[in-house]
Amino acid sequence: MSDHSSTSEMRPDLDENINVAQAHEALSGDTPAASREKRLLENGMEPVSLWLIFISAIVVLVGGAVLGQGGNLFGYSEVVKAGYLREDSPLGPGEAVIPPGPALELYVKAGQKVYAAAACAGCHQPTGAGGAAAPPLAGSEWAMGSTAALSQIILHGVTGPITVAGKEYNFAGGMQSMEQGVGGAKNLAALMTYVRNSWGNQGSIVSIEMAKNALELAKGRSGQTTAQELKASYDTMLEGAELAPDTLVDPKTLLPIDAPAE
Ligand code: HEC
Repeated sequence: MSDHSSTSEMRPDLDENINVAQAHEALSGDTPAASREKRLLENGMEPVSLWLIFISAIVVLVGGAVLGQGGNLFGYSEVVKAGYLREDSPLGPGEAVIPPGPALELYVKAGQKVYAAAACAGCHQPTGAGGAAAPPLAGSEWAMGSTAALSQIILHGVTGPITVAGKEYNFAGGMQSMEQGVGGAKNLAALMTYVRNSWGNQGSIVSIEMAKNALELAKGRSGQTTAQELKASYDTMLEGAELAPDTLVDPKTLLPIDAPAE
């Protein structure tokens, strides 16, 4: 029993030298063995159905379009509407509730509007630097000094020689009364506070109460004042309780929030 073929039949095929791929290749026909072997060879590499490729392409296209619209897929705009106002706002439907803020900040903000509206800026410049039409307000002792004098300059106007920050001016015709343009104690208070606290100026807040007293003070006289008269009769601070810069005030009324509305 030394026949080669019979020996190989008797023991496991440990030293086989057949190329398996080639052997599979050689298998022809669709015998169960052939199809099983071929499927195993392609495991995980099966071709994908055409409809699956189409669906994937549509998903990628739609997804890309959504992301392309400014990334709205992750935007809050669908959930939170911009500028949304509560229907039951305490100020009435659709009215924004502006929170109270520190007095100095809100007086200066309101005063800046009056300064522009009352045409002060036309002569004294938005920068307060003055120029061909008016002396400067920036660094002016008239702006930062006695509030009674400042109020009467605004309410009556001023004419004749006037020294501002060490320099003498005398504008022909001087400055006319600005009472009409300013309009009311609240605006006057804000305007004076703005002039006293802008362009490097530093001064106390002129409260609405003080501005009311300024209007009272102006009642007695008419015509433009002069630097001389201001020095002689108005070199005082306006009467009224002082307002600390960080007192919380209502942005609309400019009154302290704990004070009763008028
Ligand atoms: C038409 C131009 C004009 C307008 C508008 C005007 N002023 Fe004057 N202002 C003058 C002139 C001119 C003088 C100087 C008058 C003089 O020569 O005596 C002056 C003087 C002053 C002074 C004192 C001097 C100084 O420079 O500090 C103050 C304060 C002042 N103005 C504030 C105001 C405010 C606040 C407003 C707005 C409500 C205003 N002026 C609007 C022309 C103007």
